Amino acid sequence: MVKVARATQVELETAVQALRDGELVAFPTETVYGLGANAKNPEAVRKIFEAKARPTTHPVIVHLDSARFLHHWVREVPEPAARLAERFWPGPLTMVLPRAYNVHDILTGGQDTVAVRVPAHTMAQQLLTAFGGGIAAPSANRYGRLSPTRAEHVRDELGDTVRIVLDGGECQIGLESTIVAFDGARARLLRPGAVTASQMREVIGELLLGPDLESPRVPGSSPSHYSPRTPMTIVPTGQIDAQAAALSEGGRRIAVLAQRLPLKAHTYVTWVNAGRRPDQYGHGLYANLRTLDKAACRRILVQEVPPDERWDAVRDRLMRAASGVSEIDVTGNVAILP
Ligand code: TXA
Ligand code: MG
Repeated sequence: MVKVARATQVELETAVQALRDGELVAFPTETVYGLGANAKNPEAVRKIFEAKARPTTHPVIVHLDSARFLHHWVREVPEPAARLAERFWPGPLTMVLPRAYNVHDILTGGQDTVAVRVPAHTMAQQLLTAFGGGIAAPSANRYGRLSPTRAEHVRDELGDTVRIVLDGGECQIGLESTIVAFDGARARLLRPGAVTASQMREVIGELLLGPDLESPRVPGSSPSHYSPRTPMTIVPTGQIDAQAAALSEGGRRIAVLAQRLPLKAHTYVTWVNAGRRPDQYGHGLYANLRTLDKAACRRILVQEVPPDERWDAVRDRLMRAASGVSEIDVTGNVAILP
């Protein structure tokens, strides 16, 4: 049986004891739920990779309660990184920095850098402070699948392999943290998130975008990731109704994730209106995709999102979750392009 811990004092103590014993604890952050282990215990961290079925070459984030012990993990904090920490921690920002000499390879995938984050969620803060050390934690989903934004998603994903799930309700942001990597004082955005590129530029000036050839591995940046099981396609805004109608013809069930209501009722279409606000849309994205994934549909059609920066994190996750883009061709047929 999976034990659901609420953050009473007793349950916090149980979770802390589990971490000290080398066991896994799932816990909420303001972005998504994490699957945590004592970052100083390589055997415990190895259990994370087993539970997620994640290759050990993929590094994990070390979570801290504040920047006060950052130097235990990082050998050098470039000046712009210190400014980002000052401005955005605690919060949804992860920084990839040169690792301290005693940081274990299992955390870094053998790279010379380590990813660190100070989450803001009260329960994550309570856990980190009570534990008194770093907690290594990727998102608490099976490798390549949608990140969990509620405690029950963690149980759906990992079942009995995780004994303790701290239940902090729904994650406020719902998308994984922004990741920025430093090469000396040069900052590069590896994964968009709630902290946007322009917010960071206001603090540090220059910020490069996207991984380059020498960038460290970020499996979240492989083309297929964060995926529902149902094939998913991105559809231009003006075509969403027509494509839903065309693809559901003859009684085939189709799901739609849109930013508005349908123009008319479609009989075989499960239509979710996720709204026009990027924060609200992002907050519900993974839960919506989980729901639509269970609706036994042939395909999930997703209305493309606006091109402005506030949608960057949502767009990034949609592109990775989608198997292609669909267009109505000149003959009026729906073509799915890889
Ligand atoms: O919001 C989040 O970041 C959540 C919560 C739980 O903190 N965590 C999360 O972890 O999304 P994960 O493992 O699912 O994604 C972290 C990403 C991975 O793509 C990983 O490869 C990358 O961060 N990463 C970790 N360490 C790295 C490093 N040293 N260099 C480059 N990328 C790294
Ligand atoms: Mg993940």
